[in-house]
Amino acid sequence: MPNPTIIIFGASGDLTSRKLIPALHRLDAMGLLAEDAQVVGVSRTPYSSEEFRNQIQPKVKEAAQRMGEGWFPGTWNRFAKRLHYVTGDASRPEGVRALGEWLAKREGEAGGDRLYYLSVGPELYPQIVAQLGAAGFTKENGGFRRVVIEKPFGVDLATSRALNRSLHENFSEKQIYRIDHYLGKDTVQNILVFRLANSMFEPLWNRQYIDHVQITAAEKVTVGKRGGYYDTSGVLRDMFQSHLLQVMTMVAMEPPSRFTADRLRNEKVKVLDAVPILSKEEAMKNMSVGRYQGYLNEPGVPQNSRTPTYAAIKLNIENSRWKDVPFYLRSGKALRGRYSEVVIQFKQPAFRLFPMGDEELPANRITMVLQPNEGIRLNFQTKVPEVEGTRMQARDLHFDYKGSFGVAIPEAYERLLLDALVGDASLFMRADEIEQSWEIMEPFIQASEDPNFQSLSEYPMGSDGPSCADALLARDGRKWQPIPT
Ligand code: BG6
Repeated sequence: MPNPTIIIFGASGDLTSRKLIPALHRLDAMGLLAEDAQVVGVSRTPYSSEEFRNQIQPKVKEAAQRMGEGWFPGTWNRFAKRLHYVTGDASRPEGVRALGEWLAKREGEAGGDRLYYLSVGPELYPQIVAQLGAAGFTKENGGFRRVVIEKPFGVDLATSRALNRSLHENFSEKQIYRIDHYLGKDTVQNILVFRLANSMFEPLWNRQYIDHVQITAAEKVTVGKRGGYYDTSGVLRDMFQSHLLQVMTMVAMEPPSRFTADRLRNEKVKVLDAVPILSKEEAMKNMSVGRYQGYLNEPGVPQNSRTPTYAAIKLNIENSRWKDVPFYLRSGKALRGRYSEVVIQFKQPAFRLFPMGDEELPANRITMVLQPNEGIRLNFQTKVPEVEGTRMQARDLHFDYKGSFGVAIPEAYERLLLDALVGDASLFMRADEIEQSWEIMEPFIQASEDPNFQSLSEYPMGSDGPSCADALLARDGRKWQPIPT
């Protein structure tokens, strides 16, 4: 990799210190950053490079300790030499000029590759990209010019289209890397490996054997200090349009003919394309929403807010693999635990030779735990060992990721930053995926914002969410898998 520079806009922000720099530090520690790779933070806050390094170091240390890794000052010192800072407002020509001067010194005649990372508020994306374009910084003459963009990609279909248009004025689609950090999680990538690299699962992965699918992203945290932002977004934009739909595509897609970025993303788009776009009225019937008690007291949340912090929805995928197999998606804040999983519930045998046990939930279930306690459980019926009769009880076969591999699971941002540097866009979202996801979610969002829609159910903090979410499944004779504590 010749001379890459990673340019982080919004360098004094939270994401940079909590996720991006720790991920780059770890890549360096693993020897995965090119010899001459340099990182330059750009922000309005006036820092020298030295001050920037000093204020970011404790966060990197904290992240390393969270991963259960030791702290090695030598590793930090080596990485710190790669770390620089330029003060400037990149949404204005002067800011980009200051960066340009720094880059000219760094790259000299030889030029070099550049990865721009927009770790700034979404309202600044078009402006910064326009400034980069005006300065001639998006043209790939010599080295690559790639741009990484964080969600949210708009707040609805129209704004996401407008954002894509403005990005495309200065970058081609191949230069744009839209992050959904769920795709950077190893366990999410493993969904495809589990399905497609094992001949014992893929033949069953269809409507003939699968009853329904549940996808959960439960969070224990509240909105905390993010109330102001969160209230304009809500759980449907914040978690469903992005993470949950992405996980759904990994579960439901057809195998691509080869594992390349465009083939993979073509298959994901086909899944989204097969989800019928509901009317607002239909969306109301296929959704439950709730808000945790005390949400209105969070700083930044207006008293008349109707924003849901919890939602459960039912989607269908109208293709020959999934016709009549509902996908139930749920996510919420301030719940009993932090827990993300995919449950594949298989149908029961057509003929019951043995009397059923009295389990709460039917057996024959694959649970892929995405986080925490990452693993896979295979639930099946087994004979209770006893001399009299044939009694069944459901039991689990359990695969535990960490126990089995004995290593910490990499942080999503490590994988994503490395992929962006090597030019592998497989785990990044294409413009058409984003727009299709907004189209699916829009009726649900409009329904949740409609004053005629059922009032928001309040749920206690630390609970399993509102009971109306149970009703959504009970109506179909089904139950959610309980959220573990
Ligand atoms: C972010 C959302 O995209 O994902 C947050 O904006 C949410 O509201 C977070 O808390 C959840 O990510 P994770 O990796 O902790 O499940």
